[in-house]
Amino acid sequence: TANGLAPTPPMGWNSWNRFACTISEATIRQTADAMVSSGMRDAGYTYVVIDDCWHGERDAQGFIHANAKAFPSGIKALADYIHAKGLKFGIYSDAGMKTCGGRPGSQGHEYQDAQTYASWGVDYLKYDWCATGSRNSEEAYALMEDALRATGRPIVFSLCEWGSTKPWLWGAKIGNLWRTTGDITDKWSGKHGYAYGMLDIVDRNEPLWPYAGPGHWNDPDMLEVGNGGMTTTEYRAHFALWAMMAAPLIAGNDVAKMDPATAGILLNREVIAIDQDPLGRQGRRVRRDGSGEVWVRTLANGARAALLFNRGDTPVTLTLDWSALDYAPDTPLAARDVWAHSSLGTLTGRWQTSVAPHDVVMLRLTPAPLPTKKSRL
Ligand code: DGJ
Repeated sequence: TANGLAPTPPMGWNSWNRFACTISEATIRQTADAMVSSGMRDAGYTYVVIDDCWHGERDAQGFIHANAKAFPSGIKALADYIHAKGLKFGIYSDAGMKTCGGRPGSQGHEYQDAQTYASWGVDYLKYDWCATGSRNSEEAYALMEDALRATGRPIVFSLCEWGSTKPWLWGAKIGNLWRTTGDITDKWSGKHGYAYGMLDIVDRNEPLWPYAGPGHWNDPDMLEVGNGGMTTTEYRAHFALWAMMAAPLIAGNDVAKMDPATAGILLNREVIAIDQDPLGRQGRRVRRDGSGEVWVRTLANGARAALLFNRGDTPVTLTLDWSALDYAPDTPLAARDVWAHSSLGTLTGRWQTSVAPHDVVMLRLTPAPLPTKKSRL
Protein backbone atom coordinates (compact mmCIF):
# COMPACT_ATOMS: atom_id res chain seq x y z
CA THR A 1 0.00 0.00 0.00
CA ALA A 2 1.13 3.51 -0.75
CA ASN A 3 1.13 4.51 2.94
CA GLY A 4 3.70 1.85 3.85
CA LEU A 5 1.80 0.80 6.99
CA ALA A 6 0.74 -2.60 8.34
CA PRO A 7 3.65 -4.77 7.12
CA THR A 8 2.00 -7.48 9.24
CA PRO A 9 -1.75 -7.73 9.98
CA PRO A 10 -2.87 -4.97 12.36
CA MET A 11 -3.46 -5.98 15.98
CA GLY A 12 -5.53 -4.22 18.59
CA TRP A 13 -8.97 -3.92 20.12
CA ASN A 14 -12.26 -2.49 18.85
CA SER A 15 -15.34 -1.55 20.86
CA TRP A 16 -18.04 -2.91 18.54
CA ASN A 17 -18.34 -6.66 19.15
CA ARG A 18 -18.76 -6.30 22.91
CA PHE A 19 -20.10 -2.79 23.47
CA ALA A 20 -21.80 -1.75 20.19
CA CYS A 21 -23.25 1.75 20.75
CA THR A 22 -22.98 1.61 24.55
CA ILE A 23 -19.60 3.31 24.69
CA SER A 24 -18.08 6.13 26.71
CA GLU A 25 -14.65 7.54 27.42
CA ALA A 26 -14.67 5.57 30.69
CA THR A 27 -15.11 2.29 28.81
CA ILE A 28 -12.32 3.11 26.39
CA ARG A 29 -9.93 4.28 29.14
CA GLN A 30 -10.59 1.19 31.24
CA THR A 31 -9.94 -0.96 28.21
CA ALA A 32 -6.68 0.86 27.48
CA ASP A 33 -5.62 0.35 31.13
CA ALA A 34 -6.46 -3.35 30.85
CA MET A 35 -4.61 -3.69 27.54
CA VAL A 36 -1.47 -2.80 29.47
CA SER A 37 -2.10 -4.66 32.75
CA SER A 38 -3.23 -7.88 31.02
CA GLY A 39 -0.19 -8.01 28.74
CA MET A 40 -2.23 -7.45 25.57
CA ARG A 41 -0.18 -4.41 24.55
CA ASP A 42 3.10 -6.23 25.07
CA ALA A 43 1.81 -9.19 23.06
CA GLY A 44 1.34 -6.82 20.10
CA TYR A 45 -2.24 -5.54 20.40
CA THR A 46 -1.42 -1.92 19.59
CA TYR A 47 -4.50 -0.17 18.23
CA VAL A 48 -7.40 0.81 20.49
CA VAL A 49 -10.25 1.59 18.09
CA ILE A 50 -13.57 3.25 18.89
CA ASP A 51 -16.20 1.96 16.50
CA ASP A 52 -19.59 3.46 15.67
CA CYS A 53 -21.59 5.84 17.87
CA TRP A 54 -18.89 8.11 19.37
CA HIS A 55 -20.27 11.00 17.34
CA GLY A 56 -22.25 14.05 18.31
CA GLU A 57 -23.17 16.54 15.61
CA ARG A 58 -21.37 18.70 13.06
CA ASP A 59 -21.02 22.37 14.00
CA ALA A 60 -21.93 25.34 11.78
CA GLN A 61 -18.54 25.07 10.03
CA GLY A 62 -19.10 21.36 9.41
CA PHE A 63 -16.60 20.05 11.94
CA ILE A 64 -17.55 16.79 13.63
CA HIS A 65 -17.64 16.59 17.43
CA ALA A 66 -17.90 13.71 19.84
CA ASN A 67 -21.08 13.02 21.79
CA ALA A 68 -20.39 15.28 24.77
CA LYS A 69 -22.36 13.11 27.17
CA ALA A 70 -20.38 9.95 26.48
CA PHE A 71 -17.06 11.68 25.75
CA PRO A 72 -17.06 14.84 27.94
CA SER A 73 -13.25 15.24 27.76
CA GLY A 74 -13.28 15.04 23.98
CA ILE A 75 -11.53 12.70 21.59
CA LYS A 76 -8.16 14.48 21.65
CA ALA A 77 -7.85 13.92 25.42
CA LEU A 78 -8.77 10.26 24.96
CA ALA A 79 -6.19 9.83 22.21
CA ASP A 80 -3.56 11.47 24.43
CA TYR A 81 -4.46 9.09 27.26
CA ILE A 82 -4.11 6.08 24.97
CA HIS A 83 -0.83 7.31 23.47
CA ALA A 84 0.62 7.88 26.95
CA LYS A 85 0.12 4.15 27.57
CA GLY A 86 2.20 3.21 24.57
CA LEU A 87 -0.85 2.30 22.52
CA LYS A 88 -2.20 3.71 19.25
CA PHE A 89 -5.61 5.21 18.68
CA GLY A 90 -8.20 4.39 16.06
CA ILE A 91 -11.58 5.81 15.15
CA TYR A 92 -14.53 4.97 12.89
CA SER A 93 -16.46 6.75 10.19
CA ASP A 94 -18.58 5.91 7.18
CA ALA A 95 -18.36 6.71 3.47
CA GLY A 96 -22.06 7.61 3.32
CA MET A 97 -24.30 10.32 4.70
CA LYS A 98 -24.81 8.41 7.95
CA THR A 99 -23.01 5.65 9.82
CA CYS A 100 -24.77 2.32 10.34
CA GLY A 101 -25.68 3.60 13.80
CA GLY A 102 -27.29 6.72 12.27
CA ARG A 103 -24.51 9.16 13.23
CA PRO A 104 -23.06 11.70 10.76
CA GLY A 105 -21.06 10.05 7.97
CA SER A 106 -18.07 11.57 6.18
CA GLN A 107 -19.57 11.93 2.71
CA GLY A 108 -18.80 15.46 1.50
CA HIS A 109 -16.56 16.09 4.54
CA GLU A 110 -13.69 13.76 3.73
CA TYR A 111 -10.81 16.27 3.85
CA GLN A 112 -12.29 18.12 6.82
CA ASP A 113 -12.77 14.91 8.82
CA ALA A 114 -9.31 13.60 7.95
CA GLN A 115 -7.82 16.88 9.20
CA THR A 116 -9.87 16.62 12.39
CA TYR A 117 -8.77 13.03 12.99
CA ALA A 118 -5.11 13.95 12.40
CA SER A 119 -5.40 16.88 14.82
CA TRP A 120 -6.81 14.48 17.43
CA GLY A 121 -3.92 12.06 16.94
CA VAL A 122 -5.78 9.29 15.12
CA ASP A 123 -3.54 6.42 13.92
CA TYR A 124 -6.17 4.12 12.37
CA LEU A 125 -9.46 4.73 10.56
CA LYS A 126 -12.15 2.10 10.01
CA TYR A 127 -14.42 3.34 7.23
CA ASP A 128 -17.87 1.77 6.97
CA TRP A 129 -20.33 1.56 4.07
CA CYS A 130 -23.85 2.43 5.30
CA ALA A 131 -26.04 5.07 3.62
CA THR A 132 -23.77 5.35 0.59
CA GLY A 133 -26.57 5.41 -1.97
CA SER A 134 -25.16 4.97 -5.48
CA ARG A 135 -21.57 5.85 -4.52
CA ASN A 136 -18.80 3.89 -6.20
CA SER A 137 -16.90 2.11 -3.47
CA GLU A 138 -13.44 2.30 -5.01
CA GLU A 139 -13.81 6.04 -5.62
CA ALA A 140 -15.23 6.68 -2.16
CA TYR A 141 -12.42 4.82 -0.41
CA ALA A 142 -9.74 6.36 -2.65
CA LEU A 143 -11.06 9.82 -1.82
CA MET A 144 -10.76 9.21 1.91
CA GLU A 145 -7.31 7.70 1.45
CA ASP A 146 -6.23 10.88 -0.38
CA ALA A 147 -7.66 12.94 2.46
CA LEU A 148 -5.79 10.88 5.05
CA ARG A 149 -2.55 11.10 3.06
CA ALA A 150 -2.95 14.89 2.77
CA THR A 151 -2.77 15.20 6.57
CA GLY A 152 0.80 13.88 6.55
CA ARG A 153 -0.01 11.63 9.50
CA PRO A 154 0.49 7.86 9.13
CA ILE A 155 -3.03 6.43 9.47
CA VAL A 156 -3.84 2.76 8.90
CA PHE A 157 -6.88 2.61 6.61
CA SER A 158 -9.44 -0.16 7.20
CA LEU A 159 -12.00 -0.64 4.42
CA CYS A 160 -15.34 -1.93 5.60
CA GLU A 161 -17.68 -2.48 2.64
CA TRP A 162 -18.29 -6.12 3.69
CA GLY A 163 -16.83 -7.63 0.53
CA SER A 164 -19.81 -6.32 -1.41
CA THR A 165 -17.77 -4.95 -4.33
CA LYS A 166 -14.80 -7.35 -4.17
CA PRO A 167 -12.30 -5.01 -2.46
CA TRP A 168 -9.60 -7.68 -2.75
CA LEU A 169 -9.42 -6.73 -6.45
CA TRP A 170 -8.84 -2.99 -5.88
CA GLY A 171 -8.20 -2.37 -2.17
CA ALA A 172 -4.46 -2.99 -2.00
CA LYS A 173 -3.56 0.37 -3.50
CA ILE A 174 -6.03 2.22 -1.25
CA GLY A 175 -6.11 0.62 2.16
CA ASN A 176 -4.30 -1.71 4.52
CA LEU A 177 -7.14 -4.14 5.15
CA TRP A 178 -10.55 -4.79 3.70
CA ARG A 179 -13.46 -6.68 5.15
CA THR A 180 -14.27 -9.69 3.01
CA THR A 181 -17.64 -10.54 4.57
CA GLY A 182 -20.68 -9.28 6.41
CA ASP A 183 -20.53 -8.98 10.18
CA ILE A 184 -19.33 -11.78 12.40
CA THR A 185 -21.51 -12.85 15.31
CA ASP A 186 -20.46 -14.76 18.42
CA LYS A 187 -21.60 -18.17 17.16
CA TRP A 188 -19.85 -21.25 15.80
CA SER A 189 -21.59 -21.30 12.41
CA GLY A 190 -24.70 -20.40 10.45
CA LYS A 191 -26.37 -17.21 9.40
CA HIS A 192 -28.00 -15.13 12.14
CA GLY A 193 -30.01 -12.21 10.79
CA TYR A 194 -27.53 -10.16 8.78
CA ALA A 195 -24.51 -11.64 10.60
CA TYR A 196 -22.50 -14.83 10.14
CA GLY A 197 -21.21 -17.44 12.53
CA MET A 198 -17.46 -17.90 12.70
CA LEU A 199 -17.21 -20.85 10.26
CA ASP A 200 -19.34 -19.14 7.65
CA ILE A 201 -16.92 -16.21 7.76
CA VAL A 202 -13.97 -18.61 7.41
CA ASP A 203 -15.43 -20.25 4.31
CA ARG A 204 -15.92 -16.86 2.65
CA ASN A 205 -12.47 -15.56 3.53
CA GLU A 206 -10.36 -18.66 2.87
CA PRO A 207 -10.50 -18.66 -0.97
CA LEU A 208 -9.20 -15.07 -1.02
CA TRP A 209 -5.73 -16.12 0.16
CA PRO A 210 -3.95 -15.01 -3.04
CA TYR A 211 -4.90 -11.38 -2.43
CA ALA A 212 -3.30 -10.83 0.99
CA GLY A 213 0.23 -9.60 1.56
CA PRO A 214 2.31 -7.13 3.55
CA GLY A 215 0.44 -3.82 3.81
CA HIS A 216 -2.83 -5.20 2.43
CA TRP A 217 -4.82 -7.87 4.24
CA ASN A 218 -8.08 -9.75 3.93
CA ASP A 219 -10.15 -8.88 7.01
CA PRO A 220 -12.61 -11.62 8.08
CA ASP A 221 -13.86 -9.26 10.82
CA MET A 222 -12.93 -8.82 14.45
CA LEU A 223 -12.47 -11.49 17.07
CA GLU A 224 -15.31 -12.76 19.24
CA VAL A 225 -12.93 -14.63 21.59
CA GLY A 226 -14.16 -14.15 25.17
CA ASN A 227 -17.63 -12.81 24.37
CA GLY A 228 -19.43 -15.89 25.69
CA GLY A 229 -21.24 -17.37 22.68
CA MET A 230 -18.74 -20.14 21.96
CA THR A 231 -16.84 -22.66 24.08
CA THR A 232 -13.18 -22.25 24.96
CA THR A 233 -12.35 -24.97 22.42
CA GLU A 234 -14.29 -23.12 19.73
CA TYR A 235 -12.58 -19.84 20.54
CA ARG A 236 -9.23 -21.60 20.26
CA ALA A 237 -10.25 -22.77 16.77
CA HIS A 238 -11.46 -19.24 15.91
CA PHE A 239 -8.14 -17.71 16.95
CA ALA A 240 -6.08 -20.42 15.22
CA LEU A 241 -8.01 -19.99 11.96
CA TRP A 242 -7.53 -16.21 12.06
CA ALA A 243 -3.78 -16.74 12.54
CA MET A 244 -3.65 -19.20 9.62
CA MET A 245 -5.48 -16.64 7.45
CA ALA A 246 -3.06 -13.80 8.34
CA ALA A 247 -6.11 -11.95 9.59
CA PRO A 248 -5.97 -8.72 11.54
CA LEU A 249 -6.18 -9.67 15.23
CA ILE A 250 -8.60 -7.10 16.59
CA ALA A 251 -9.89 -8.32 19.94
CA GLY A 252 -13.55 -7.57 20.58
CA ASN A 253 -14.02 -8.64 24.18
CA ASP A 254 -14.22 -6.80 27.51
CA VAL A 255 -10.49 -6.77 28.23
CA ALA A 256 -11.00 -5.32 31.71
CA LYS A 257 -13.00 -8.44 32.67
CA MET A 258 -11.04 -11.03 30.72
CA ASP A 259 -11.01 -14.54 32.25
CA PRO A 260 -7.91 -16.79 32.23
CA ALA A 261 -9.23 -19.02 29.42
CA THR A 262 -9.69 -15.99 27.15
CA ALA A 263 -6.29 -14.57 28.11
CA GLY A 264 -4.71 -17.97 27.38
CA ILE A 265 -6.00 -17.74 23.83
CA LEU A 266 -5.49 -14.07 22.99
CA LEU A 267 -2.05 -13.99 24.61
CA ASN A 268 -0.68 -17.16 23.01
CA ARG A 269 2.55 -15.76 21.60
CA GLU A 270 3.30 -18.75 19.40
CA VAL A 271 -0.03 -18.43 17.61
CA ILE A 272 0.36 -14.66 17.38
CA ALA A 273 3.81 -15.18 15.82
CA ILE A 274 2.21 -17.30 13.09
CA ASP A 275 -0.37 -14.59 12.40
CA GLN A 276 2.38 -11.97 12.35
CA ASP A 277 4.85 -13.95 10.26
CA PRO A 278 6.96 -11.43 8.29
CA LEU A 279 6.54 -13.22 4.96
CA GLY A 280 2.89 -12.15 5.06
CA ARG A 281 1.42 -15.07 3.10
CA GLN A 282 -2.11 -16.09 3.94
CA GLY A 283 -2.56 -19.80 4.70
CA ARG A 284 -5.23 -21.97 3.13
CA ARG A 285 -7.12 -25.22 3.37
CA VAL A 286 -5.23 -27.92 1.49
CA ARG A 287 -7.40 -30.91 2.38
CA ARG A 288 -10.97 -31.53 3.36
CA ASP A 289 -12.10 -34.95 4.45
CA GLY A 290 -15.59 -35.03 5.96
CA SER A 291 -15.47 -32.75 8.96
CA GLY A 292 -11.68 -32.87 9.11
CA GLU A 293 -9.53 -30.21 7.49
CA VAL A 294 -5.82 -29.63 6.99
CA TRP A 295 -4.59 -26.06 6.61
CA VAL A 296 -1.08 -24.93 5.72
CA ARG A 297 0.59 -21.54 5.82
CA THR A 298 4.04 -20.83 4.41
CA LEU A 299 6.16 -18.89 6.88
CA ALA A 300 9.46 -17.05 6.57
CA ASN A 301 12.72 -19.03 6.27
CA GLY A 302 11.09 -22.15 4.88
CA ALA A 303 8.98 -22.80 7.96
CA ARG A 304 5.33 -23.84 7.84
CA ALA A 305 2.31 -23.55 10.07
CA ALA A 306 -0.10 -26.46 9.89
CA LEU A 307 -3.59 -26.65 11.32
CA LEU A 308 -5.52 -29.87 11.80
CA PHE A 309 -9.11 -28.83 12.35
CA ASN A 310 -12.24 -30.79 13.21
CA ARG A 311 -15.47 -28.93 12.54
CA GLY A 312 -17.58 -31.95 13.40
CA ASP A 313 -19.10 -33.35 16.57
CA THR A 314 -17.09 -36.57 16.85
CA PRO A 315 -13.31 -37.00 17.03
CA VAL A 316 -11.44 -37.39 13.74
CA THR A 317 -7.98 -38.70 12.92
CA LEU A 318 -6.10 -36.38 10.62
CA THR A 319 -2.86 -36.82 8.75
CA LEU A 320 -0.41 -34.12 7.86
CA ASP A 321 1.50 -35.22 4.80
CA TRP A 322 4.81 -33.60 3.89
CA SER A 323 3.57 -33.22 0.31
CA ALA A 324 0.88 -30.85 1.63
CA LEU A 325 3.71 -28.80 3.11
CA ASP A 326 5.54 -28.77 -0.22
CA TYR A 327 8.37 -30.75 1.27
CA ALA A 328 9.85 -34.07 0.14
CA PRO A 329 8.85 -36.90 2.51
CA ASP A 330 12.39 -37.35 3.79
CA THR A 331 12.80 -33.71 4.81
CA PRO A 332 13.35 -33.49 8.56
CA LEU A 333 11.14 -30.83 10.15
CA ALA A 334 11.31 -29.80 13.77
CA ALA A 335 7.70 -29.75 14.98
CA ARG A 336 6.25 -27.71 17.77
CA ASP A 337 2.68 -27.86 19.08
CA VAL A 338 1.86 -24.18 19.56
CA TRP A 339 -1.21 -24.76 21.77
CA ALA A 340 0.44 -27.38 24.00
CA HIS A 341 3.67 -25.33 23.98
CA SER A 342 5.69 -28.50 23.51
CA SER A 343 8.10 -29.96 21.00
CA LEU A 344 7.20 -33.08 19.02
CA GLY A 345 10.80 -33.67 17.98
CA THR A 346 12.07 -33.88 14.42
CA LEU A 347 9.66 -35.59 12.04
CA THR A 348 9.68 -36.82 8.45
CA GLY A 349 7.05 -37.97 5.96
CA ARG A 350 3.75 -37.61 7.74
CA TRP A 351 2.24 -37.10 11.12
CA GLN A 352 -1.09 -38.30 12.40
CA THR A 353 -3.21 -37.23 15.36
CA SER A 354 -6.73 -37.36 16.68
CA VAL A 355 -8.54 -34.03 16.91
CA ALA A 356 -11.44 -33.52 19.31
CA PRO A 357 -14.78 -32.04 18.13
CA HIS A 358 -14.51 -28.33 17.21
CA ASP A 359 -10.87 -28.43 18.19
CA VAL A 360 -7.58 -27.74 16.46
CA VAL A 361 -4.04 -29.04 16.60
CA MET A 362 -1.62 -26.42 15.38
CA LEU A 363 2.03 -26.98 14.55
CA ARG A 364 5.00 -24.85 13.60
CA LEU A 365 7.37 -26.86 11.42
CA THR A 366 10.92 -25.66 10.91
CA PRO A 367 13.46 -27.20 8.54
CA ALA A 368 15.92 -28.99 10.79
CA PRO A 369 19.62 -28.60 10.04
CA LEU A 370 20.88 -31.61 8.09
CA PRO A 371 23.25 -33.81 10.06
CA THR A 372 26.80 -32.64 9.34
CA LYS A 373 28.70 -35.05 7.10
CA LYS A 374 31.96 -36.18 8.55
CA SER A 375 34.71 -35.18 6.15
CA ARG A 376 36.27 -38.25 4.57
CA LEU A 377 40.00 -37.83 4.21
C1 DGJ B 1 -21.04 -2.52 10.24
C2 DGJ B 1 -19.63 -3.03 10.42
O1 DGJ B 1 -19.43 -4.15 9.58
C3 DGJ B 1 -19.41 -3.41 11.88
O2 DGJ B 1 -18.14 -3.97 12.07
C4 DGJ B 1 -19.62 -2.19 12.74
O3 DGJ B 1 -18.64 -1.23 12.43
C5 DGJ B 1 -21.01 -1.62 12.53
N1 DGJ B 1 -21.28 -1.39 11.12
C6 DGJ B 1 -21.19 -0.33 13.28
O4 DGJ B 1 -22.41 0.25 13.02
